[in-house]
Amino acid sequence: MSNAAVVGLQWGDEGKGKIIDMLSRHADIIVRYQGGANAGHTIVVGNKKMVLHLIPSGILHENKYCVIGNGVVLDPSVFDEEVRDLKEQGYMKDDEKLLVSAQTHLIMPYHKKLDSLREAGMTKKIGTTGRGIGPAYEDRASRIGIRVVDLLDKKTFAEKVRENLKVKNFLIKRYYKQEPLKVRDVIADYAQYRPLLKKYVEDTSLFINEKMRAGKSVLFEGAQGTLLDIDHGSYPFVTSSNTVVGHSACGSGVSPSSIGYVLGICKAYTTRVGEGPFPTEVFGAQGDLIREKGGEYGATTGRPRRCGWFDAVVARRAVMLNGATGLAIMKLDVLDGFETIDVCVKYKVGRKAYSQPPLALHDLSKCEPVYESLEGWKGSVKDVRSYDELPDGAKKYLRRIEELVGVPISIISTGAERDSTIVLRNPFSG
Ligand code: GDP
Ligand code: IMO
Ligand code: MG
Repeated sequence: MSNAAVVGLQWGDEGKGKIIDMLSRHADIIVRYQGGANAGHTIVVGNKKMVLHLIPSGILHENKYCVIGNGVVLDPSVFDEEVRDLKEQGYMKDDEKLLVSAQTHLIMPYHKKLDSLREAGMTKKIGTTGRGIGPAYEDRASRIGIRVVDLLDKKTFAEKVRENLKVKNFLIKRYYKQEPLKVRDVIADYAQYRPLLKKYVEDTSLFINEKMRAGKSVLFEGAQGTLLDIDHGSYPFVTSSNTVVGHSACGSGVSPSSIGYVLGICKAYTTRVGEGPFPTEVFGAQGDLIREKGGEYGATTGRPRRCGWFDAVVARRAVMLNGATGLAIMKLDVLDGFETIDVCVKYKVGRKAYSQPPLALHDLSKCEPVYESLEGWKGSVKDVRSYDELPDGAKKYLRRIEELVGVPISIISTGAERDSTIVLRNPFSG
């Protein structure tokens, strides 16, 4: 038995979906452990593209268990849509293979409403996805959240909705001057999801632990990225969950000693969607070129992603926080054709140099990248499947990333498709 975790080392959208789908072949169970439908994980199979927001990216493989863990915040309407969509496309033939933790918190209509109203009213916007993530995690911490297990019991659910709406409606009506939500509408709306969730609900912590004891392998699927972690990211421009791999244990209900191989996912450059500091952001024509070549538009909101060069300061920090065993470097093909490729090796503010990201936002916002300029390569790495076939310039670039970040590269991705991948070390081979 061996387990592995996939975690984003940047600001999300590193290409986790592709790698999780690819590695799912080697795992028995794939678990999402945090975040919600703010995630957008893309999988390309042939000419078909799937974007999954909630259901684990292992779902395209038959005979694998996919688990939505207790650490996720689940929007039943997105879950319903995703299940329907997958079934329509011929996946999810066996309902027994998808499991949702009874302890998973629900995203409620007032969470989404409050998320958007708050964003609209802020002078310094976070640029959230509007999926209700922050308000749902706030309620969980305030101990007024509503869980899947509560929805299954009509009376408990109605009581909790009624109680919650007293305060939420006060805010919506009095503070935001918007139409309040009706208790009966919310109850009726969510009643439609009761049979659906009943089909998949489970004590998933017990399930995973029993399977592990029987020798089955688990793949932990991280969402977002390390720089969006509520504690370790560029706070307050972060999401509302812990995205670092340490949380995979807590969000799945297993011991931290179960995590196994930690695969850190990075793009060969950097992107960010939403507001907040981004030291290596490239503006103008060159930034636009990366965006167009990389198709850098949000998989969840369609927003153009901000683009920039690889930031070794951020990646090094993320490797440390996650104890990454190896790296997957994604989208190397997007850098084809660049005459020179910059890599940020440290930051400076005035004369002061930083080899770690400063923790105060006002310091991080002032940081300027110090670049090392590497020569680009001739020819294309697109869809290349063996390391030896990579141009020397590309090999040099990858070696420099390894040196700067301090861990070996295990996987190189040269295209969006499953097979456009070079595997130097399989995380499941121990
Ligand atoms: P995730 O949130 O980390 O799963 O990443 P997203 O799915 O939001 O964004 C990654 C995008 O890059 C998706 O459109 C993928 O299909 C695409 N992608 C992944 N790997 C590669 C690659 O090596 N090359 C190219 N060109 N595209 C890739
Ligand atoms: P995946 O899993 C990129 C960003 C939002 C915003 C901030 C807070 O696809 O990598 P939230 O809605 O979570 O309260 O928004 O976090 N964000 C992501 N950026 N990829 C994601 O997920 C993200 N999920 C949230 O853009 O800046
Ligand atoms: Mg994404």
